[in-house]
Order: sequence, then structure tokens, then C-alpha cells
Amino acid sequence: MSYLDAAKKRATELISSKNAVILAIETSCDETAAAVVKNGREALSNIIYTQIPLHRKFGGVVPELASRNHVDQIGLVVAAALEEAGLDKGDIDAVAVTHGPGLVGALLVGVSFAKALAMSLNVPLIGVHHLMGHIAANYLTYPDLEPPFHCLIASGGHSDIVEVKDYTDFVHLGGTRDDAAGEAFDKVARALNLPYPGGPELEKLAESGNPNAIAFHSAFNMGDSFDMSFSGLKTAAVNRLQSEPNVRPADIAASFQFAVNSILSDKAIRAAKSTLALAGGVSANRNLRDMLEKKAGAKGVRFCCPDFKYCTDNAAMIGSAAYYLLMRGGLSDLSLNAVPALEMQSS
Ligand code: KG4
Ligand code: ZN
Repeated sequence: MSYLDAAKKRATELISSKNAVILAIETSCDETAAAVVKNGREALSNIIYTQIPLHRKFGGVVPELASRNHVDQIGLVVAAALEEAGLDKGDIDAVAVTHGPGLVGALLVGVSFAKALAMSLNVPLIGVHHLMGHIAANYLTYPDLEPPFHCLIASGGHSDIVEVKDYTDFVHLGGTRDDAAGEAFDKVARALNLPYPGGPELEKLAESGNPNAIAFHSAFNMGDSFDMSFSGLKTAAVNRLQSEPNVRPADIAASFQFAVNSILSDKAIRAAKSTLALAGGVSANRNLRDMLEKKAGAKGVRFCCPDFKYCTDNAAMIGSAAYYLLMRGGLSDLSLNAVPALEMQSS
């Protein structure tokens, strides 16, 4: 029997039993991650090898270095994920991998490894969209959370408001026209001489600043659209730093964070009906979590945000999303490729 026939047969069995232990791999940017996830909701292991120290001296991710480092680490990280789960390769029912969006060389390492592993074990292969994974981080955190709900995704590469109609069915309501929220945080942090990645550093600095010290206005974000723009705010913050040498860096950080988070939270809350989830690396920002919690409470909307360990890139979220793809027949074949600008499925 060919690999594909064996994988299809196995997938049919898994769908009818609704049980699947999935080994998931995530290498879309600067984290080499692997996890074992049971039935989409339970992370049996979650190993993250971060390359941040490697890229820090360059002030950002160097794609070629990221790819090479993924090659060095992937085997070790997958072995560690199996060990932490107390499982052997033979216990794995399916292999999942992020195949986009992300850095092409980095994605290719995960995709190639996952293909080889799935083929050697004769189990289904599931290609997962990175942002679908970020949304699924909420399923690992809230056992009762089910679609439909709305989700604000804010990461280093994306800022989107989506309606999650079903586990694998999304409607894009709006997104950034330019910089992603995380990217804007990183760039302003860099202007403040903070190390990479700047988002968490800017958050720390903002704690001792006054969010009302400087009013960063943005006409574009005032409209009814769910689209957003952060590059004007970013330029205003950088210009302020350059033109006013005496301005307190902590005030810039706090005021900029307040401006970005106000836009994200106002738009997301306006889109939300009964439940709003937060996803992506910026979901680790406490100020954003608090703001959303308050605004959701005032509108009578349930607010969900991932456990901190599932906010930034990890493979457990990929394993969760993969379970729902698998259950809906979303099998990949060995032609699965890395797609740097992969679009999300929508109805
Ligand atoms: O989702 P993620 O790990 O990678 C991408 O898919 O892009 O997100 C990384 C982004 C970076 O821009 C990082 O600065 C930002 O998330 N980030 C934060 C915080 N933690 C991570 N931004 C603000 N506050 C944080 N605590
Ligand atoms: Zn991410």
C-alpha cells in the first residue's frame, strides 16, 4: 500500500474514533518547537527552543541563521517532546506542521522533517496555518471554548480580527494595512534601545511610564472599518524621541502601548458578539489583556486569552488546530510545501 493510501486509511480510523495523539512541529520564525497533543485539547508536552539569543545581537531575526539553527535543533526538540509526553514514535497517530505563513527557509525545515517522519511512521500528515494555530491556543486554555466566536490576532507578522465560524472556517473582518502590532512594538522598542524582541521589553518599561503623557492620535483608526494602521503611530513615537531629547522613554513606551492597545481592543470589542478570544504573541501583553477584559465585561462579552505558555510561538497550538483539521478530513500529501504568505481558509 502506498504511503498516501495508508495515511488515508489511518485518518478514517482516527475520525471514526475521534481520538488522535498528534506530534506537532512549528518552525515558522525563530522558535524551534515540538509538542504532543491529545484530541486537540490536552498538551502532553510542549518543547520550545528559542533562538532569541542568537538573533539578539542583530536586533532582529536573520532568516538564514534561523533556518540553519532549526536544522541543528529540530531532531533534539522532537525527541524531547516525545520524551516529555512519555511516548515513543510508534504511539503517534499523526504528524502536524506549520507550513505558512512565515520565513520560507525556516518553514521548510519543519515541513521536510514532518514529511519524513509521517512517511516513516505511515501516519497522516497535516499542514497547519500558523494563525489557525494561534487561535487554537485558546482551546488548550479553555476546555469548553467552541466556535463560533470572534478573535483578535496580534503577532509580530499579523494583526487581524476574524470571525471563527467553525474550527476550520474563518471570516476575515479586518486587519492592519501596514505594520503588525507586534512589529510596531518591536520597532519603537528598538528606537528606545531595548533588546530584541522589543514587545515584552517595551511592556516592562511602560510599567513605570504615564500612558497619558503623550497623546498619539491616528485618524485612520477612528473609522468604522475593522482595518487598522500602526505605522503612523510608530513614526510619531520615533519622531518624538528624536525631536525631544528630554522626553522620558518610559512615557513614550506607556503612551505608545496605550495607543496601540486602545485601537486593537476598541475594534475587537466592536466586532465581538458573545465571545472574544485573543491570540498571537502580543496576547502576552498584560496591558492589552486587562484592557480587553474590562471592555468585554462592559459589553457583556466573554473574554478568553491563552495561558502565557501558549501566547508566543509554540507547537502545542499547532497540534490543537491539526486535530480539528484531521477530524474534517484535512489531510496533506507529500507535496505539502512551505508557503511564506499562506492565506487563511474562509467560507
Ligand atoms: O506570535 P509570535 O510569537 O510570532 C509571530 O507569529 O510573529 O509573536 C511575536 C511578537 C513579537 O513582535 C513580540 O515583540 C510580541 O509578539 N510580543 C509582545 C509581548 N510578548 C511578545 N508584545 C507586547 N507585549 C508582550 N508582552
Ligand atoms: Zn506566531
